[in-house]
Amino acid sequence: MSFYITTPIYYVNAEPHLGHAYTTIAADIVARHMRQRGEDVFFLTGTDEHGEPVVQAAEKAGLTPRQLGDRNAPRFQAMGELVGATNDFFIRTTDPRHIERVQEVIQRVHDNGHVYEGTYEGWYCPRCADFKTESELGPGNTCPIHRIPLEREKEDNWFFRLSTFQEPLERLYAERPDWIVPDFRANEALAFIRGGLHDVSLSRPKLKWGVPLPWDEEQVMYVWFDALLNYYTALSFGRDGEDLTERFWPVSWHFLAKDILKFHAVYWPAFLMAAGIEVPQRELIHGYLLMEGHKMSKSLGNVLDPFAVIERFGADALRFYCFREVSFGQDGAVSADGFEQRYETELANDWGNLASRSLAMIERYRDGVVPDAEVDPVLAEGADGLTGLDGRVRELLDEVELTQALEQIWARVRRLNRYVEESRPWDLAKDPAEAERLDTVLYSLAEGVRFLALLLLPYLPETSGRLLDALAEGGREMDVFGSRGGGQTIERIPALFPKIEA
Ligand code: MSP
Repeated sequence: MSFYITTPIYYVNAEPHLGHAYTTIAADIVARHMRQRGEDVFFLTGTDEHGEPVVQAAEKAGLTPRQLGDRNAPRFQAMGELVGATNDFFIRTTDPRHIERVQEVIQRVHDNGHVYEGTYEGWYCPRCADFKTESELGPGNTCPIHRIPLEREKEDNWFFRLSTFQEPLERLYAERPDWIVPDFRANEALAFIRGGLHDVSLSRPKLKWGVPLPWDEEQVMYVWFDALLNYYTALSFGRDGEDLTERFWPVSWHFLAKDILKFHAVYWPAFLMAAGIEVPQRELIHGYLLMEGHKMSKSLGNVLDPFAVIERFGADALRFYCFREVSFGQDGAVSADGFEQRYETELANDWGNLASRSLAMIERYRDGVVPDAEVDPVLAEGADGLTGLDGRVRELLDEVELTQALEQIWARVRRLNRYVEESRPWDLAKDPAEAERLDTVLYSLAEGVRFLALLLLPYLPETSGRLLDALAEGGREMDVFGSRGGGQTIERIPALFPKIEA
């Protein structure tokens, strides 16, 4: 099945930070998991380079908007690589192929009768690139997000008849109640729709930096419509010599945070309907990582700087921490101190230790060859057994429960550690009469670790890959606990998550 995953395209007016990395990692976890399931995945991310926020930032930096984009887009691209993102393409909205395709779609919206010329008067936030309705305004006519005083703008421009989509949108929400998850975000968007939709500006006359309207070249397209269309246009040029639109449209899952809900859950489906294009299957709205530094940590100072974390501990540790610490979907605080605690107790102790102990015992007691045995029934069965875990993780990820899926896996990491303590292989090794029992235990550990490494691969791709190599496991697709059998010669490797030294 084809599976198309996207992140928002990030504004080039700022430098990449942990918040951007977070969404990219979330999408990457799902992309990797779906590939393991054998799905045909296309994963897209990129940069949003038009519009007023970019123009303003460029002016401040003494650059043209294009220069600012050329400087910062590669930084976002590098951030993706650094966190281990496996996106198939990186789109920039300044790409002439994007611009051309945007013009085609907008012309269709025009020809279908969904635009008209008019005068706009209202409150505009240049940082959001958004007109605020009276009910959205903060105290003293401020932007509720940026808290800056807003300018009252009056201008002649083209309008999109959003108001006529009120009923079709309400129908969309009624027919597909889970098209926006979580529920409370769907309700938020629906309340906005039911509150009454006003037509929105489709163009800005004063701005020069954007996609010109094909029927009125004096005006550039309102940046949000240009930006949203990236999800659609990228498929026509994201892979050389191929048009992937038929194969991957509509989008399977859009990932984004709550800040841009209105654009994705109200404007975007309406705009697609106006263009006669199918609406995406699902949007996942996550919360905010709250990044105020507080307590000092041993090695990272007091703010969680993703670049510093990755340099010192690798991308896997950062990927793990973000999804373990904050329940995906909710807001939650992250900190350098919290990172170190989880790194030590969970990555270094729970998981890293389990892996190295298991490998070491196979080496010591069986000359590095995984015994050929059956898995110990105590590990397979019962509520905390490993059998069927792959299915439960899959169900949770189908519901985009990234944190709960990881929790299920982690409970089994702990279970295997308990198993080591209970079965005491070091005692069994002293008694030749227990040789068969020791075979069972060592095989169960090798198989348990292999199986967990496969489940953890989307979250911890680099270290899981190394561990699977050490276990002489060539495949990366998901399979079931106990399915492999023994006989492989394993390889000792350095600690996956070395302890932190002060
Ligand atoms: N350019 C628009 C999006 C256009 S999509 C067609 C934009 N860009 S942005 O650079 O501001 O990125 C916003 C997105 O970055 C959020 O929706 C979220 O995905 C991510 N995040 C930015 N800060 C974040 C946190 N502090 N926490 C979690 N995600 C955050 O809006």
